[in-house]
Amino acid sequence: YVVDKGNHRHFMEKEIYEQPEVISHALSHYVDFASNRISDNVNAIDFKTASGLAISACGTAYLAGLVGKYWFERYARLSVEIDVASEFRYREMPLSPSQAALFISQSGETADTLASLRYCKDHGLKIGAVVNVKESTIARESDAVFPIMAGPEIGVASTKAFTCQLAVLASLALGAAKARGTISAEQETELVRHLAEMPRIMSRVLNLIQPQMETLSRELSKCRDVLYLGRGTSFPLAMEGALKLKEISYIHAEGYAAGELKHGPIALIDENMPVIVIAPFDRFFDKTVSNMQEVAARGGRIIFITDEAGAAASKLPTMATIVLPNVNEIIAPMIFSLPIQLLAYHTAVFMGTDVDQPRNLAKSVTVE
Ligand code: G6P
Repeated sequence: YVVDKGNHRHFMEKEIYEQPEVISHALSHYVDFASNRISDNVNAIDFKTASGLAISACGTAYLAGLVGKYWFERYARLSVEIDVASEFRYREMPLSPSQAALFISQSGETADTLASLRYCKDHGLKIGAVVNVKESTIARESDAVFPIMAGPEIGVASTKAFTCQLAVLASLALGAAKARGTISAEQETELVRHLAEMPRIMSRVLNLIQPQMETLSRELSKCRDVLYLGRGTSFPLAMEGALKLKEISYIHAEGYAAGELKHGPIALIDENMPVIVIAPFDRFFDKTVSNMQEVAARGGRIIFITDEAGAAASKLPTMATIVLPNVNEIIAPMIFSLPIQLLAYHTAVFMGTDVDQPRNLAKSVTVE
């Protein structure tokens, strides 16, 4: 069927605003909202007896997997080996049939991801696919398919598929934790309750931050380089922010673990390169703020993406502070994705690039 832009200027914008709806759809597949429990279908892969988990993907899907690694390790005490598919397939890493493997792909057709899947299959691992296209090759060749239910994504820069991948990975990690007995029933219902609240919070945030994102993007569109920093699950998000910006605005951007600042990127700090700091008020907050201090001390301009508690706790001068509502750690990556997507989107619109079809990029990469 035909997908149109509705009253949006670009598919990307439409897909950003669709997120509350599609995430709710995705979650309803993995979560029982009546009892606030994770549904049993997440254990289509036997996480309970798995000795470890291997994850492989490309691009934005890889960065979703990287967030997933934090969740599987923290909640399910399952160690995760993750790599971009183009490296994973050739690394000759030791694998055992007692491990499970997850392949994340919007299209389900990415050549390197498919090759990684086949490599794991040859080594006897049980294969799970986190895909948007259920009829795809990656889905067909897997033992279990975990659809992300995002609906067709037309914009080359992935937005709703990313947050739906995150929602599904969070559900899988909690399902694994439940099966492995590493979270209590109380913790499970508490975390699921937070997941269930997410679509409503996303709608509120999208409306709340829209005007500020447009104003800030005007500033960003004048820059040559942008640095994104984050810790914990905000580290993959920093990389996703940088990826989004470079893909569609062609501004050079890098995402770094905040703690690595002093091992290199600090040399680049001056008044010309904005530093976007992603820091919810979590257990890493103080550490990230001290990195921010190092940026401020060198005349760097900071765009601080935080929550109400974080905004109240930091007194550092910033170029702009984006204040999101306080949310539980399990949903923070999805909520903090929204300002990152909108910043990239509006910056590209200001620069007049072809937002939905950026130069040199393809939606689906079926060659190596
Ligand atoms: C291309 C797309 C990205 C996507 C990546 C992986 O580079 O432009 O948006 O993240 O491929 O695609 P997949 O379909 O496997 O998620």
